Order: sequence, then structure tokens, then C-alpha cells
Amino acid sequence: MNIAVFVSGRGSNLRSIQNSIKNGEMKVKIVAVVSDKTDCAAFDFAHSENIQTYSVFDAKRDGFSDYFSLTGSLLSSGVELIVLAGFLKKIPVHFLESFRDKIINIHPALLPAFGGKGMYGMNVHKAVFNSSAKVSGATVHFVNANYDEGKIIAQRCVEIEGVKSPEEIAEKVLKIEHELLPFVVKKISEKKVFPNGNRIEILN
Ligand code: GAR
Repeated sequence: MNIAVFVSGRGSNLRSIQNSIKNGEMKVKIVAVVSDKTDCAAFDFAHSENIQTYSVFDAKRDGFSDYFSLTGSLLSSGVELIVLAGFLKKIPVHFLESFRDKIINIHPALLPAFGGKGMYGMNVHKAVFNSSAKVSGATVHFVNANYDEGKIIAQRCVEIEGVKSPEEIAEKVLKIEHELLPFVVKKISEKKVFPNGNRIEILN
């Protein structure tokens, strides 16, 4: 299965997917890495792996594709799944419609808590820390038109009882993200993820 991974910066989740592919854990190929930036660590990694990169902006801008031309490029590359792995911009509705039920996102907390507009990266971990919650975790969900509200595919928890800072939570959660996201991509590539009523089921 050909996939595209959307990133905004560091790209550690992108790396975790590529590592899992290279280790032979799934029959998936990352054919495109897309960012709202023209330059980021995730792009450096993509270039080192010979993966095509695209910068995208919601209107025409020098050096950027718009989402309409990106849609064409991804469809002609045979992309069947789009993975938002630390992509922090809202996706236009027409793009969501072109890839209906084929876009997933990883969120660094246990949705439906600690999601929504402005809840990304360290903002999430600070909110969790200040809430005095004793567990956090990661969520992979389908993307719809509202931030972090699509159906949940998979979640993992992590104990944060003794943490001293939001940074410590971020570190613990990131470790889990690096297992959870490749797991979900693998299951989708094996056609083992499907809706059942209001819930999403994953087959063994
Ligand atoms: C990850 O923790 C991801 O869950 C988060 O951004 C980080 C990206 O790290 N995404 C969000 O907060 C989306 N709401 P990475 O670039 O190293 O993968």
C-alpha cells in the first residue's frame, strides 16, 4: 500500500513508520512526505530516504503546491492512506473529501480529552500536566472536518503519576506513539480496520 505522511517539523513518527517498513513488518511504501514548511528535519529525513517531498499551502504561494494540485499528485502516485504525523495545520474540506476515510492522525493524548483547536505538541502535555491526570497516552483516529473529533482507531495509555514536568510526559507519550502509529498503519494496510456501528474494530 502506498501512503503519504504529513509532517510539520521533527518527523520522529515518520521515522518510526519508515523503520517499521524497513524491518519488514509491513508491506507499505511511503511515496510522499508533505509539509506546511519548505524546510524541516522531517524533509531532511525524507530526502535521505529518497522520498518525494511536497510543501503545501492553502492558497497558491511561491514554492508551495496548493491542496488541489497536491490531490492530483498523490492520486497519481497511488496513495491509499494519508497519515498526519505531527502535521499542525487544518486540512481543507475538499481535500478531506478526496480522501474520505483515508486520513488518520496521531494525537499525543487520550482523546476525547485534551483535543481541539490549539491542542498540539507541548500545549497538550502542559494541559495534561496541569490537569493533575495520572495517565496520558496516544490516540490514532480518522480525520474529519473538526479537530481531533474523528472516530478513534487505537489508543495506548502511559502512567504519569510521578512526572515532574510536561516535558517528561511528552517523552513518555512519544515512545508510545512510535509503537502505536506503525501498528495502525500496518493493520490498515492489511485491511484489518473497519467500522462497526459507532466504533472502529481492529482484527488480529
Ligand atoms: C507528536 O507528538 C504528535 O503526536 C503531535 O506532534 C508531535 C510530532 O512529533 N501531534 C499533534 O499534537 C497533533 N495535534 P514528530 O514530528 O517527532 O513526529
